[in-house]
Amino acid sequence: MGVTISPSILNCDIANLASEIKKIRNADYAHVDVMDNHFVPNLSWGLPVVEAVIRENILPVDAHLMIEDADRYAPAYAEVGCASVTFHAEAAIAPIRLAREIRAQGAKVGMALRPATDITPYIDLLSELDMLLVMTVEPGFGGQAFLESMMGKVRRARKAISAANLQVALQVDGGINRETITKAAEAGADVFVAGSAVYKADDAFNEVEQLRQIANHHLNH
Ligand code: DX5
Ligand code: ZN
Repeated sequence: MGVTISPSILNCDIANLASEIKKIRNADYAHVDVMDNHFVPNLSWGLPVVEAVIRENILPVDAHLMIEDADRYAPAYAEVGCASVTFHAEAAIAPIRLAREIRAQGAKVGMALRPATDITPYIDLLSELDMLLVMTVEPGFGGQAFLESMMGKVRRARKAISAANLQVALQVDGGINRETITKAAEAGADVFVAGSAVYKADDAFNEVEQLRQIANHHLNH
């Protein structure tokens, strides 16, 4: 299986949502960042906007929930029809129960780790997940610089996934562009979120294609 490209619409022109998503119609998902001003120091949008993206029916939605109390609020994102729902490990009290609830609603389930969160305590949870997200910036804002220091965690995650013979996808999010995507792919990531690299490019469609080609070339698992 090839790589998965999931552009973040966080910094797209939100007043023209449909045409902004059409620009990236060659992607696999639209990555929608939900921020609550508590888990991260920024507020984006919640369920109604996510539902609007789903209604456009252009791309399946990969929801990234940067919100407190994920146990309480995350299942609704699966219920409204997100294809994939990712909650943060740091914001979930019962991640296994939550993962099962999300799956029971028919969505894929992802769990995200902030840069300072170690993967070790979560290795035994991998079998409950469809995807692990290793953040490559401190969550909260688009346009930040890629943290190369996270590549060790990506490598450890890939090793743990292979060792357990699991099919868990490994996503990286933050500062991904044509250069950094090479490093992340070589470290073992196979799902790539890119916000500013795609929406600041002259041609978002072409940028998605470029990122896909480069990542496929360096895919390492
Ligand atoms: C950061 C978000 C990212 C971000 C990506 O908290 O989770 O999805 O918008 O944007 P870039 O690619 O600009 O870092
Ligand atoms: Zn994100």
